[in-house]
Amino acid sequence: MDLVKNPFLLMLSLEVLPAITEDKQDLTTFKVTRVQLYDTFVVHWLEVNQRRQESNALSMDDRNVFDQLLDAGFTSMGIDYSTRLALAIFDRQDGRPVVQYKDLHDSDSWKEEFFGPEPVTRLLQESSPLTRSGDQFWFIHRTMLEYFFSRVIYSPATMDNEFDPQAKNESFAAHAIGLGNPLFGYNLVAEPSIIQFLCDRVKLDAAFEQQLRSLIDQSKTDESATIAATNAITILVRADMSFHGVDLRGVKIPGADLSDGQFDSTQFQGADLRRVNLSRCWLRQADMSSARMEGVQFGELPYLEMDANVYTCAYSPDGGTLALGLGKGRDSMGIYDTSSWTETFRLRGAPAVLDVAFSPNGQVIVSGEETGMLRLRDCCSGQDISVLEGHNIFVRSVAFSPCGKQIASASHDKTVRLWDMQTGEIRFVLEGHTNFVTSVKYSPKGEQLVSGGWDETIRFWDPVTGEPRVVLRSSYAFVHCLVYSPDGQWVVSGHPLGELQFWNTVTYKVTLLSYMTAQVNRVTVSPDGRHIALLSTCHTIDLLDRPSGELLSSTTLEADNIQALVFSPASQQLAIGTNHGSVKLWNLDSDKPGVDLKGHVGGVDSIAYSPCGQWIASGSGDMSVKLWRRQQQANEAENWLCFSTIRGFIGSIHDIAWNPVVEMEFVTTCMDGSIRVWRVSSSDGGVVVKLHWGSRLGILCAADMILKSVIDLGPVNKKLLTQRGAISPLVNEQDD
Ligand SMILES: *[C@@H]1O[C@H](CO)[C@@H](O)[C@H](O)[C@H]1NC(C)=O
Ligand SMILES: *[C@@H]1O[C@H](CO)[C@@H](O)[C@H](O)[C@H]1NC(C)=O
Repeated sequence: MDLVKNPFLLMLSLEVLPAITEDKQDLTTFKVTRVQLYDTFVVHWLEVNQRRQESNALSMDDRNVFDQLLDAGFTSMGIDYSTRLALAIFDRQDGRPVVQYKDLHDSDSWKEEFFGPEPVTRLLQESSPLTRSGDQFWFIHRTMLEYFFSRVIYSPATMDNEFDPQAKNESFAAHAIGLGNPLFGYNLVAEPSIIQFLCDRVKLDAAFEQQLRSLIDQSKTDESATIAATNAITILVRADMSFHGVDLRGVKIPGADLSDGQFDSTQFQGADLRRVNLSRCWLRQADMSSARMEGVQFGELPYLEMDANVYTCAYSPDGGTLALGLGKGRDSMGIYDTSSWTETFRLRGAPAVLDVAFSPNGQVIVSGEETGMLRLRDCCSGQDISVLEGHNIFVRSVAFSPCGKQIASASHDKTVRLWDMQTGEIRFVLEGHTNFVTSVKYSPKGEQLVSGGWDETIRFWDPVTGEPRVVLRSSYAFVHCLVYSPDGQWVVSGHPLGELQFWNTVTYKVTLLSYMTAQVNRVTVSPDGRHIALLSTCHTIDLLDRPSGELLSSTTLEADNIQALVFSPASQQLAIGTNHGSVKLWNLDSDKPGVDLKGHVGGVDSIAYSPCGQWIASGSGDMSVKLWRRQQQANEAENWLCFSTIRGFIGSIHDIAWNPVVEMEFVTTCMDGSIRVWRVSSSDGGVVVKLHWGSRLGILCAADMILKSVIDLGPVNKKLLTQRGAISPLVNEQDD
């Protein structure tokens, strides 16, 4: 997956994997890390360039210098050049990748060392993995810069020395990580790519692991090692190194990312752990006494545990207090101070509290009980202020009017009651519901009241006169709960299966329909405008009638994941791309499973019907596009044949679109940065012709993906790129 997401890495792998796997017998157990790919690629690049320089006609001076470079080791000199350049880019321009070098202007600056006219500088610069455009230079890919910077921090024992223990010993000695190392000066926690390279190194090289561990120890007594220790522990944790039981007393690692780390029984006493990320860490028995913990993240907030069902909860208007309604257990109600999450009141062994609401000034809580009673309480102490009696069974919902003078309650006795807050007297009994009333709410300005319940109605009332107003009928059975939008323009009703309906309070129409059995991932409207198809995360596709929003049908597909969903031009069929690589066709007028177009080996991300509906083009993560053609059958059974498969993409296909004007022409966009135009010629047995301008467009659109798009170039375009200095020497003429 890493490869498919990063086309540069994919290109690089294709380039070097043959060399890496050359003498490996069993590839099933063979693992390659990213840093190994880059190591091999860089050597390969320099070797190709060495040969290129050898065959060039060099001037006398250049020839001499080149011979000296060969004596000194062309590859290691080249690596040294790029490594120094990467360090300079971080030191001098804060990691901004593009270096501008103007011949006379910059001749006294640090850039001279890398881009100046000296023959040795020039030869190395021309042989390094750099791109040039005019007076601007940059590494061929951002990750190249990061790779070389990681080599400043730690470079591997050179390959030549691998079998010479003495030399290897020396190279280890040269690796001692001291004050001058960027590990001391740069906080790398926010540079995941560099961390990744170093973490690959740790896994390959036990000596590096030892050095990082000793940097962490060093921070216990040495303030100047703080950043280095923070970097070191972040790298080690990312590399899955265990710290179970390790003595980390007094370490200074502020800001380290230790997420997923292993720290059971670790001793952190007195450590500086400020702003450390401890998400998903193993921390059993870890000792953090007297450690500095400001801003530490555990990735999980604390929770309150109740000995009862939680029926309802409400924040006070200023957010400082939380009240809970509980029941069917020991507890009936709880009030918490939200700044410290300390409990200020708990009611035990009383009747269940089904709903609570705060008065607008936040000082009084009204609760609705299963006995039919309403109770007013002091918001801090929880002490009873008064009891409102009237309902004879469950009070399901309570609300304060925005002015605070009136209270509304809804009950299973099928009534809504309005109470005077001061006197506790009933002002009105609102009758009309024919079943349990489950929810009652005031509009934000208080001029309207809404209630809903098991009779499947939503009723509006005048809270001043108690007069009934409009009655709406729900299309999704019971009304569970109601809420006003803050501007009062909408009432949203919630229903048993999770459906929501939005009611306009001016026109009293359902103008917005939201169908919420689960998260809706994709939605598409049929060309004739009559249907809406919704794809939800639970792998079902629901078909809705567009004007009414009524559910027409719902089908569950076995695919884990559906990635594409389109209507046919005549609106009678849906094509569905699955992550198993098939395209399922679903005929809307039939309840039988439709045809399954099988052939892709990767998920199908894009599907397009030709305007006449007789062709389907499907694009997949397997880096191919397939063309399907509808066959005319005598028995009218639907049949599609794979007409051709187009390969040569370097990345998954993003999107496909047919040209509505030019017959049999379609366009593809691919993750490799190319936009290609294809024309299907059906007359001569099915050749797909690629039009050339497409590939050039692709290249201009994707400057940093040049390496692989070069494959598609015609001669003219290659010249163009060469002039821009962007062509890589990897592409040899024969293969072009
Ligand atoms: C490597 O260096 C260590 C001391 O740093 C020394 O003890 C050891 O003998 C050396 N090994 C070889 C093979 O030279
Ligand atoms: C902490 O780590 C977790 C898991 O890696 C990550 O999701 C979260 O964003 C991190 N927090 C910060 C502030 O970087």
